[in-house]
Formats: sequence, C-alpha cells, structure tokens
Amino acid sequence: MRSRRSLSQVTDEAPTHKELVELISAAGRVADHKELKPWRLIELRGDDRLVLGKAIARAQGEDGVNTKPLRAPLLIAVVATIKSTSLPAWEQEATAAGVAHALSLLLDEAGWGVIWRTGDYTRAKAVSKAHGLKKGELLLGWLYVGGRPDRSRPVRGKTIDGERYLSAMPSEDAGDEDAKDAKDAKQARESEKAQKKARKAAKKARKAEKDAEKKARKAEKKARKAEKA
Ligand SMILES: Cc1cc2nc3c(=O)[nH]c(=O)nc-3n(C[C@H](O)[C@H](O)[C@H](O)COP(=O)(O)O)c2cc1C
Repeated sequence: MRSRRSLSQVTDEAPTHKELVELISAAGRVADHKELKPWRLIELRGDDRLVLGKAIARAQGEDGVNTKPLRAPLLIAVVATIKSTSLPAWEQEATAAGVAHALSLLLDEAGWGVIWRTGDYTRAKAVSKAHGLKKGELLLGWLYVGGRPDRSRPVRGKTIDGERYLSAMPSEDAGDEDAKDAKDAKQARESEKAQKKARKAAKKARKAEKDAEKKARKAEKKARKAEKA
C-alpha cells in the first residue's frame, strides 16, 4: 500500500481476462452495506477503446475519435449500479469506489501499471450510451491498465502523516460554549435596546417638564397682567 502509485504511462502488455476475473473476485470482497453488490465493471480492449474515444469526442462536441482511451491496452470502466432500496445512493457509490480502489491495489501488487482516470465527460450521455448503461447506473471512471515500462520512474517517497488526518471528537463543552456566546450576544442586544428606550423616555420627560415650566410662566405672566388691569 505504501509503495503503490498511479502509472500514467504503460506498455501494451495487459493482464488476461482470466487474470482479471481472478483479481475482481478478490476486489469484490469490499464491505458492502446490505450486500447489494452495487457495482459492475466493463472490460475495454482493442477497438472498444475507439468506441469510447468516439463517445468522448461527441460529449465534447468534437468530430472523430478522442485518443485518450488509447493510452493503455486495457481500460476497466467502473460502474456504480445504484439499486432502488432505502440504502442511500452515496453508500452504494462508496462500495463501488471501494471495489475500484481494491482492484487497482491488486493490479499494482500483481506488477501491472494502473491509473484511475476520469474527465468532464465521465457522466456525459454519449459516454453512458457507449457503455450501455441502464437507468441508475453511473460511471466512476476507468482504471487504465498496462505493463510497467522498464524505465518507469522510481517510487517517489510519498508519505502520509497519519496524525494529520486523525482527530478526536470536539468536546461537548464546545457546543455549550457556542450556546453561551449566542445567549450573551442576545442579552447584550436586549440591554442596548432597553437603554435606548430609557434614554428616549428621559428625553420625553425632560421635554414635558420644560413645557410645563413654560406653561406655568405664561400663566403667571397672564395673571400679573390681569392684576395690573
Ligand atoms: C476518482 C479518481 C479519479 C481520478 N482521475 C484522474 C484523472 O482523470 N487523471 C489523472 O491523471 N489521475 C486521476 N486520478 C489519479 C490521481 O491523479 C492520483 O491518484 C494522484 O495523482 C496521486 O498519485 P498516486 O496515486 O501515484 O499517489 C484519479 C483518482 C481517483 C481516485
């Protein structure tokens, strides 16, 4: 597993149909919720690749044959065959993808060059039609398989830091903290609103007081005037 790698350039040598069947019977042992076997594989060799090339060209609005499928002598189309049951489609696609990963590992282990390829055209109508897909069937791409060139690049020292991809669940307090923050923010908003209301009421009261004083002064002035007369 640590030493596997995708090989984009392969020779014309390829595993036989019999060898392939043998590896598929092992790859098909991936975990499969409800054992629906929601996958199937299609073997493309020789001119089958031209049929795919024509479909890719059509999907891209081009004439002729796209030569991409000719990059390897054997292409294995990976199809998720989504069954209509209560099991979500994503679980079924996960199983189909699991088969493709397992098969590519087994092919790599058996000494073959493999790369999983996709493209914008993977789920195009013309491409689905060329593979004879039925309703509910989805392509997940193709495993391009061939011989390993003698002078293929040495295995790069790719390492994965397991620690980086493994974490613990966030503590339950983290959720409580969020709730507390939201509560505090609500309280602050409400307090600001109350203060604004109080300021408005005080202003109104001051104005009423001033008006009353003005009115009293006016009345007093009027009374004095009446007295004089
Ligand atoms: C679903 C899927 C689709 C992929 N599609 C392509 C592709 O279209 N072209 C390509 O060069 N590689 C494709 N790859 C292979 C990755 O590019 C490859 O795994 C990656 O470059 C890492 O290289 P390594 O497998 O040697 O570690 C695909 C892999 C997966 C799983």
